Amino acid sequence: MENRIHLGDCIDVLHEIQENSVDLVYLDPPFFTGKRQASSNKDGSKKYTYEDRWHSNSDYYDFIEKRLTLCRKVMKDTASIFFHCDRNAVHIARYALDKVFGPEAFQSEIIWSYKRWSNAKKGLLQQHQNILFYSKTNSFKWNKTFVDYSATTNIDQILQRRKRDDRGKSAYLRDKEGNVVLEATKEGVPLGDVWDIPYLNPKAKERTGYPTQKPILLLERIIALTTDEGDIVLDPFCGSGTTPVAANMLNRKYIGIDKSIDAVHLTNDRLLSPIKSESNLLKKGVESFLKKDQWIEMHLTGLECNPVHRNSGADALLKEKVNGNGVFIKVQKQEEKLNDALNKLVKLINSREGFKGILIQTSNTDEFINNESKSIKIIKSISMQIREF
Ligand SMILES: C[S@@+](CC[C@H](N)C(=O)[O-])C[C@H]1O[C@@H](n2cnc3c(N)ncnc32)[C@H](O)[C@@H]1O
Repeated sequence: MENRIHLGDCIDVLHEIQENSVDLVYLDPPFFTGKRQASSNKDGSKKYTYEDRWHSNSDYYDFIEKRLTLCRKVMKDTASIFFHCDRNAVHIARYALDKVFGPEAFQSEIIWSYKRWSNAKKGLLQQHQNILFYSKTNSFKWNKTFVDYSATTNIDQILQRRKRDDRGKSAYLRDKEGNVVLEATKEGVPLGDVWDIPYLNPKAKERTGYPTQKPILLLERIIALTTDEGDIVLDPFCGSGTTPVAANMLNRKYIGIDKSIDAVHLTNDRLLSPIKSESNLLKKGVESFLKKDQWIEMHLTGLECNPVHRNSGADALLKEKVNGNGVFIKVQKQEEKLNDALNKLVKLINSREGFKGILIQTSNTDEFINNESKSIKIIKSISMQIREF
């Protein structure tokens, strides 16, 4: 069964898996959206779909309860299960998991939090999904994980060792000279239950076009927390294959199941040539992102504009329009050649008819600048003008 992707309803395939053999189950079943999910790959040559329409809450409940019961059977006593859902069915899933595993097996509700910028519907913009984490027994496998302190943490205070005083109150431990005793090291903060992991953006290399594909980064975290190398990871609704791919990358065995032949083919393709998008946000840290943004913000101060994300051609769009068309603004970055910045803006403007562009020059240059575009104006930043004056 291992290291294979099985085609079929997971209710049938789960029967074939040996009892007490699996170390981790991650399942991401249809979310009870009431829709048929559909999307296409980047060049539009392949359309993927799966059904997510149900007669009633109890119809959906029955569907997952039956499959969860079988998942429990194949799990080792040390195994955990992560049920991925969102606001549509989190209440139904919690009820079913409590029924199958017992409320005492509940460990956490993980909030997978990500940024989105637009909302087609009235109401609050949805920026999270829920992952319900249960264990089969209390002796579940757990690889303790720490994350860095936040920028606002007073590290100095954290490193000061504490003890209980005579009245049982917590106090700083002091040496004979009365100096506060410091801990040699602290590993960081134990990982919490709110995870900021970027959603796969439409241009991400990792994106296959499969509807509701999850990021490898998210699965890697779950797998690393609850399994060791060589362990078996099962995904009974594997879709585009994110779980098998992540498990394989981390030297775990996998069992993938999906009832869609397209999903099985896609997963097998991804296993042969896996692609994982790096998250710049996670790699460089929030700090460096803020710093980069600060440079841009500094040069946009006082302008009425909206930020433009993930587009190397522009940093903002003026709120005011010119003859009904938008005006993009680009700020020359530190260490960016003015010609490079100009070329990026030109490319963007050329792709939007009627739009104009303003390039804010932030440093002196000895480059030859040949701005032939009538739609683009290069303006020196205020600090440059002051320096020159
Ligand atoms: C939310 S998607 C999974 C997405 C996946 N986690 C990913 O990252 O691509 C749900 C998948 O469950 C599959 N599915 C639905 N009912 C199923 C069933 N009874 N047995 C197996 N797979 C099923 C669908 O074909 C679909 O691929």
